Amino acid sequence: MTPVAPDAAWNRLLALAQRPGATAIRSLFSRDAARFEKFHWQACDMLLDLSKTAIDDAAMQALLGLAEATGVMAARDAMAAGERVNNTEDRAVLHMALRAPPGAGFKARRADGGVDDASADVDATMAAMERFTRAVHAGEIRSATGETFTDVINIGIGGSDLGPFMASRAMWHEGSPMRPLYLANADAHNWELIRPRLNPGRTLVLIASKTFTTAETMANARVVRGWLEQTLGTEGMRQHLVALSTNHKATAEFGVPSDRVFGFHDWVGGRFSLWSAIGLSIALGCGWDDFIRLLAGARAMDEHFLSAPPAANLPLLLALTTVWHVNGLGLDNHAILPYDHRLSRFPAHLQQLEMESLGKRVTKGGLPVKHLTGPVIFGEPGTNAQHSFMQLLHQGTTPVPADFVLIANPSHPYAGNHRLLLANGLAQAEALLRGRGEDEVRAEMTAAGKSAEDVERLLPHRVFPGDRPSTTLLLPRLDPQMLGQIVALYEHKVFCLGVLWDVDAFDQWGVELGKQLSTSILPELLPEGRVGAHDPSTAGLIGQLRAWQGL
Ligand code: F6P
Repeated sequence: MTPVAPDAAWNRLLALAQRPGATAIRSLFSRDAARFEKFHWQACDMLLDLSKTAIDDAAMQALLGLAEATGVMAARDAMAAGERVNNTEDRAVLHMALRAPPGAGFKARRADGGVDDASADVDATMAAMERFTRAVHAGEIRSATGETFTDVINIGIGGSDLGPFMASRAMWHEGSPMRPLYLANADAHNWELIRPRLNPGRTLVLIASKTFTTAETMANARVVRGWLEQTLGTEGMRQHLVALSTNHKATAEFGVPSDRVFGFHDWVGGRFSLWSAIGLSIALGCGWDDFIRLLAGARAMDEHFLSAPPAANLPLLLALTTVWHVNGLGLDNHAILPYDHRLSRFPAHLQQLEMESLGKRVTKGGLPVKHLTGPVIFGEPGTNAQHSFMQLLHQGTTPVPADFVLIANPSHPYAGNHRLLLANGLAQAEALLRGRGEDEVRAEMTAAGKSAEDVERLLPHRVFPGDRPSTTLLLPRLDPQMLGQIVALYEHKVFCLGVLWDVDAFDQWGVELGKQLSTSILPELLPEGRVGAHDPSTAGLIGQLRAWQGL
């Protein structure tokens, strides 16, 4: 068969998305009794339902044709083979090696042509992390005051905070070995909230930073180091410090003992790093065995991603659904709605994972992209979301595709609450699809005794257009293994989108300019500083800040 060029595949897809009625979903169900059967998939103990989107057979064929034309599966294999698929940073992308079984044989191809044994390094770090975690939990490693460590605080930001924070919140339970806390924001009000809950004599401090130069993390690390030192002295303070970083020189300069540094490599991207040493707070807080279960879940999804055919490959199907919405229908917002409070940080994690990876406007070759790329990702757990932004999803001017995540069995005993939660999640997706037409609204208001005049006045406000797309991920339970699976599912979705859109999903140059400008503004905020050369707005704001600070 002659391979289709990406442009031809795009044209075919866009033409299908412009067909009259291409956004209708209800009629797809009425025309095809088997639609749910055809458009849901089960793999890795989860069910992915795409039937509540406007993707029909022709659109799915066109989407799969696009995946073939853009070489998604070949790119996947290149990533797994340790090729330097992060081309603007000239690095391999090997977060899959972090959750592979010992001796898995992942290789990282270096820029100088050499090959590193990625798995050997991962295995050695994992062994060291396990020894440390178990020794802390057994009370063999104790604090400077001779007490057992009861709390662990992770100081990091972005990928060095969001992933571990999200996973700890999802996995931690009453019987877990330590209390994990997360300090990210440069705003010291964050520390002020955490500090009163901590006893320095029982607190282990993890400084999580791939580069060990991130300004916010280093500022917070200095504050917390000072807090430890005040009570424990310099030597005592050092016994409480741990660094999770690739920058061994900087960790030593900061005063972290070398046997308390857990490293990783540049082929682990920040937003993909929770499986690496960056995940130590998860292991300490939730237990080593659960950390391993989390990794095993991600591995199960890796195996699925690496082996399932395109038409049944869950990460690819999710990515293609996003292409349909963003590029086909021009819908560039996307809501993440986990109906499980343990997943309350999941939308924030996906926000970084997706927006830092896919918020790009040039191709891997440096040309302007021809299509829209990463959508705006936002979300909240259900049912909270229903009482904040769901109004807009139901009746706003533009549809916003939403991912519902529903868990069949909770790990609490309150069956009534759980039924309420599930009924609401199912109902929201049903309401988005079904809508509510004029006849139905009129009949309901008339039956409720409204006057004819009131009925007509209120009618437009009470109509729901329906045909609003959503996808549902249904899981039997949320345990560490399942969490690993769903996080890896979205990681691979992001990878597929990077290939489909031909952007480097592993760099983040867009965060640099603001960091640089803040460095030059910093001295202007000192008492002896002066307002420098800025646009009039920034200069005016700095001037007023200085005035209100009495400078
Ligand atoms: O600001 C962007 C970023 O580089 C993220 O990609 C990263 O996760 C975060 O900062 C933290 O970086 P580091 O782990 O080096 O402190």
